[in-house]
Amino acid sequence: DGYPAARLFSQGVSFTYDDVILHPGFIDFSTDEVDLTGRVSKNISVRVPVASSPMDTVTEANMAGTMAMVGAIGFVHYNNTSTEQAAHIRKAKQMRLGYVADPAVLSPKSTVADIDSLKSSKGFSSVLVTEDGQLGSRLLGVVTNRDTDFVADRTTELAEVMTTEVVTASSTSSRQEAEAVLKSSKKSLLPIVNEQGELVGLICRTDVKRSLAYPVSAEPTLGKDGKLAVGAAVGTRDGDKARLEHLVQAGVNVVVLDSSQGDSTYALNMLSFVKKAYPELDVIAGNVVTSRQARHLIEAGADGLRVGMGSGSICTTQEVCAVGRGQATAVYQTAKLASTFDVPIIADGGISNSGHIVKALTLGASSVMVGSFLAGTEEAPGDYFFQDGQRLKKYRGMGSLEAQAKGSDTRYLGDQSKLKIAQGVAGYVADKGSVRRLVPYTMHAVKQGFQDLGASDLPGVWAMLRNGEIRGETRTGAAQVEGGVHGLVSYEKKRF
Ligand code: XMP
Repeated sequence: DGYPAARLFSQGVSFTYDDVILHPGFIDFSTDEVDLTGRVSKNISVRVPVASSPMDTVTEANMAGTMAMVGAIGFVHYNNTSTEQAAHIRKAKQMRLGYVADPAVLSPKSTVADIDSLKSSKGFSSVLVTEDGQLGSRLLGVVTNRDTDFVADRTTELAEVMTTEVVTASSTSSRQEAEAVLKSSKKSLLPIVNEQGELVGLICRTDVKRSLAYPVSAEPTLGKDGKLAVGAAVGTRDGDKARLEHLVQAGVNVVVLDSSQGDSTYALNMLSFVKKAYPELDVIAGNVVTSRQARHLIEAGADGLRVGMGSGSICTTQEVCAVGRGQATAVYQTAKLASTFDVPIIADGGISNSGHIVKALTLGASSVMVGSFLAGTEEAPGDYFFQDGQRLKKYRGMGSLEAQAKGSDTRYLGDQSKLKIAQGVAGYVADKGSVRRLVPYTMHAVKQGFQDLGASDLPGVWAMLRNGEIRGETRTGAAQVEGGVHGLVSYEKKRF
């Protein structure tokens, strides 16, 4: 009944995740017993096997820090100066669970109109007021909706409307102690101040409520340095060597050599340079989609492989360049080879639901990398805006003309002096709330998928795949339609 993977993937057909369907197995354990611990590289394991992509609309400090806090990992993009990229890494590594990463802080001379614009771009309606409008300066007051709702003159300065009697917690108190103060204060915000009365952090009531509903892992992803693990991308040109030094100084734990076709002399040279110059640093190479490409990079010392070419939601590589591979086939074939060297595969691109993650992991990936899936979250860079009643954020391919104009053409081995060819597009994605809710929720669905398969962890599912216990079939177009919602006018707004 059904086909083992070896047979399914040897038909000369390039399968996407949606083309294949897995058959259910036997369940003799609960979803809580499913352990999804995976890896992004030989030495970096992740309890939540998801990586945020190094794209300029996906991963900067807030995303990377939050991903590490929920047990996953983020790779900071390099469409910026090396100083900016290093600053994102430092900031992400310093983030603390339960504390707002980037609190909105204004000065007493700011106006109510400044709060209005913060509200429309970031969604905040409460701000903290400090002497010079920065974190680290003396806290003077708090302004919430209730202080500004009926202020007709929006040029009114905050000094006139702020509440100056503020309940605060000391920076020496534990998170539990601070949360207890917040609960008994019945306020929406709890500023954290040091002995000098300077603002050092913020805890929000909504975050505390969210953490009760979606408890975040007690095990964040930590590096060998004992701090939150943060990854970053660099290119494969000579100039990227100086950039890498900056990132290492900032404490980066793993780097990915970013290239849309990673089987090149540029990538191999960079890989051997990094392995020699920074023997302690894990290096992920890619992107690859065939076992031949994978072997080249593994033999050159790659500690992990990024797999996918043209499967991303904003990718046009397959159309523009005629190369690539269906992502299910690419993951299966490269993982088959890489597993013999114990090199983890990151299935990169084409993930739009939890079922895709189940398939990627089952077919041999040790983790998945996502762009569009996270681009609409609060932690992604950029501001929200409204269009046709929907709250949206920008998301663009790193090969789009827009991103290339900022410098990312090296990923596509573009030559500054020649015509730029787009291999990606730019657009918008819907608001998805916070990573702190979205990721645990999604992983719970992935655990249910593993339970349905009868597999309780990654090595277990791979053993079942190898010995033919996990079987599957391809789906016709009609079967795919049948597998989705059909014949219904839904009254429920789709969130994910
Ligand atoms: P998703 O499907 O998660 O894909 O949005 C994210 C991945 O897509 C790759 N990427 C691109 N591929 N042109 C491409 O062909 C592009 O402009 C582009 N930008 C990103 C990248 O691997 C990313 O992780």
